[in-house]
Amino acid sequence: MADLTSNFIGIKSPNPFWLASAPPTDKEYNVRRAFEAGWGGVVWKTLGEAGPPVVNVNGPRYGAIYGADRRLLGLNNIELITDRPLEVNLREMKAVKRDYPDRALIASIMVPCEEEAWKAILPLVEETGADGIELNCGCPHGMSERGMGAAVGQNPDLIEQITRWCKQTTRMPVIVKLTPNITDVRLPAQAAKRGGADAVSLINTVNSITSVDLDLFAPEPTIDGKGSHGGLCGPAVKPMALNMVAEIARSPETADLPISGIGGVTTWKDAAEFMALGAGNVQVCTAAMTYGFKVVQEMISGLSQYLDEKQIGLPDLVGRAIPNVSDWQHLNLNYVSKAVIDQDACIKCGRCYAACEDTSHQAIAMSEDRVFTVKDEECVACNLCVNVCPVEDCITMERMAPGQTDPRTGKVVQAEPADWTTHPNNPMAKVAAE
Ligand SMILES: Cc1cc2nc3c(=O)[nH]c(=O)nc-3n(C[C@H](O)[C@H](O)[C@H](O)COP(=O)(O)O)c2cc1C
Ligand code: SF4
Ligand code: SF4
Repeated sequence: MADLTSNFIGIKSPNPFWLASAPPTDKEYNVRRAFEAGWGGVVWKTLGEAGPPVVNVNGPRYGAIYGADRRLLGLNNIELITDRPLEVNLREMKAVKRDYPDRALIASIMVPCEEEAWKAILPLVEETGADGIELNCGCPHGMSERGMGAAVGQNPDLIEQITRWCKQTTRMPVIVKLTPNITDVRLPAQAAKRGGADAVSLINTVNSITSVDLDLFAPEPTIDGKGSHGGLCGPAVKPMALNMVAEIARSPETADLPISGIGGVTTWKDAAEFMALGAGNVQVCTAAMTYGFKVVQEMISGLSQYLDEKQIGLPDLVGRAIPNVSDWQHLNLNYVSKAVIDQDACIKCGRCYAACEDTSHQAIAMSEDRVFTVKDEECVACNLCVNVCPVEDCITMERMAPGQTDPRTGKVVQAEPADWTTHPNNPMAKVAAE
């Protein structure tokens, strides 16, 4: 079995799977059970400053979007940071860390954007034996209206400032958790780095309204006839999260900044994808809320088996896909492929025909007895038929070998790659050549 031992910015854990700061990590009872189930670490539910705790709504706080089989694709929440007293959380964190010294325990913190507030809470957190802190610069609701959470995360100067205060005040490693509710995620990541952050983690939840009650005419979840925007998480946000992680990992300014990947991780494969795009470890919330703590066991065995099959170690996986993340203009325009339908696998549903005929390139023929075939002279290889076909691997995209003539363009496929930067139709290429 592959060694999954993880060392993220000096914080060791038996595997790279941490629970993200959220209800699964809100109290000692949960975290002990999570550790028993096998989680490598937890980021404790976000702590606020001492004093009266925040107040949550007493009506529904979650909304959801589902796939056709009612599988949960996205969870929307209007929950705030922990609503339990600071001293209770700190006491419980200390007890858990004492009993599970090999697991990572990170304190997520959100206090007002004032130096005194950070200086007051950090020594208390340090005293619990926590391995690090995560600055919650992302909470998209409730706290941002009070100048915290996403209100900080959307302002790179404030991120830099808070990170610097923390680095000056504590010996604990500082992870800055970023909000996706921003135009260019590289800017807050750069700010965190300037402030001295040891790492960034992303993403927090995405501003969203999941549905509208069409009798009450109010967003859901609805509380006494009204609803508010919430934060979306779960499998639906994974594509956005992967892109943001990759943007930070491949940006020269932040390429050396460690990343904890978050957003829709449900299986070992999701985790491996985040890591291939540069995440040193992953954090999970919705999958645990949907399937329970034992979901980590499939993640551990699956990732371990994958690494064994590939004959690589965990550190070799981190960032392995980054050299292959390219800007569009560098994609090889001499790479030509065609859709091919496996007639034995085809169930003759006709989806590929409808999609290609109505919205793509009229490149699929349907015979009277419903045999579907690709017209190579029309196929532009867009992949839409592959994406809509309900049978996995029934349609595949096959590369044309160099030297063959593409029946669509009448041109011979070239072996040498060529991209848009040198293409004759590109006005900028002409300017560069002159
Ligand atoms: C109900 C709920 C409460 C959350 N509370 C916090 C929080 O207190 N602090 C925080 O940093 N993130 C919080 N999050 C965000 C998660 O930590 C995580 O960033 C997000 O859910 C994306 O991961 P996922 O797709 O695995 O759920 C919360 C998420 C949910 C669903
Ligand atoms: S790849 Fe695109 S163009 Fe080709 S057959 Fe499929 S849908 Fe049509
Ligand atoms: S979508 Fe797939 S299964 Fe359906 S007709 Fe086309 S190739 Fe066959």
